[in-house]
Amino acid sequence: MAFIVTSACVGCKDTHCVDICPVDCFYQGPNTLVIDPDECIDCGLCVPECPTAAIFEEADVPENEIPFIELNARLAPHYENITDIQEPMAESSPYTVEEAIELLQKELAELE
Ligand code: SF4
Ligand code: F3S
Repeated sequence: MAFIVTSACVGCKDTHCVDICPVDCFYQGPNTLVIDPDECIDCGLCVPECPTAAIFEEADVPENEIPFIELNARLAPHYENITDIQEPMAESSPYTVEEAIELLQKELAELE
């Protein structure tokens, strides 16, 4: 089990989550952050830090966000580790859940 970053992060990247993570397991791509599920220790500390409520425990990921479980795992090895807070891209995601999934699946197809 791990915690999962979902669609509310895509196009937002608030980044306050990275400051609290004790094992530095957040990774950044052009449109979102993801959590490496092999490194996450399930502490849950990042959840209240995210102002867009983008982070869920794997078992609690909403039905329509389930593709993010695989997207976090497969994008993490391609993204750069991030440990410092940065300026957000936007206050909230401009995408629907479906649009966010499509965007990241396209990214993944180009990376793998
Ligand atoms: Fe890091 Fe804990 Fe969040 Fe996992 S649950 S990403 S270890 S802060
Ligand atoms: Fe994203 Fe929330 Fe972190 S928007 S960057 S998961 S604080």
